[in-house]
Amino acid sequence: MSVVQNKLIVALDVETADEARGLVASLRGIAAMFKIGSQLFTAAGPDFIKEIIKAGEKIFLDLKFHDIPNTVAAAGVEATRLGVSMFNVHAVGGGAMMRRTADAVAECAASEGLTRPTILGVTVLTSSDDATLREIGVQEKADAMVARLAQLAMNSGLDGVVASAREVSLVRAVTKPEFIVVTPGVRPAGAARDDQARVMSPREAIAAGADYLVVGRPIIAASDPARAAKLIVDEMLSCAAGSRS
Ligand code: C5P
Repeated sequence: MSVVQNKLIVALDVETADEARGLVASLRGIAAMFKIGSQLFTAAGPDFIKEIIKAGEKIFLDLKFHDIPNTVAAAGVEATRLGVSMFNVHAVGGGAMMRRTADAVAECAASEGLTRPTILGVTVLTSSDDATLREIGVQEKADAMVARLAQLAMNSGLDGVVASAREVSLVRAVTKPEFIVVTPGVRPAGAARDDQARVMSPREAIAAGADYLVVGRPIIAASDPARAAKLIVDEMLSCAAGSRS
């Protein structure tokens, strides 16, 4: 898989559809995809997603589904019908949940003539550490759990995982080369870290093996979002040629 292309995903972490519309308009042609998470989805709903897709943009639906296999598979089918390019599920939901979702999505896409979205697993949230895991009864270290869940996601038919830049090499070590790694927690030199504890620059994240970078506040809170996004894309492209292909 070549990484010499724009793989910037902009997180539309805003309160209203109007704010998101403005960002999409100014980032058209710069962002490869837009991420819609729980906040904007709860505020604006599936109609807003349809509107953005109709306007020619790609959507990563970041709702991190986690439920019984039948329910998550059914939600995956609806995400496919909505036309999103990517969506995610919690890998801790287990192999049966992921396998059933991957199968149901593939079947729906084939029988209804739709494009099959990329399905990602969420391993261990970056807000969780070893202490958080112990609190919920998990004795395994977070790093080991990330690697194990990434492998489980791959073996259950998922296309990739969301992983912090720090975890990319852990995931790469246990998965096949075409397995996709989507990385948040990216900060260009000089940008505020916000609440991200461990950050990497776009160049470092690509060099570590990330396929897609998810960037929110450094772009959406910038005085000129288009300029901020362009600088990140240029940095990604300038170092992509030298990384894995
Ligand atoms: O504003 P910022 O660039 O920190 O936004 C990062 C985005 O990636 C947010 O939408 C956040 O929810 C998401 N994310 C994250 N860390 C994870 C998974 C998702 O920051 N482990």
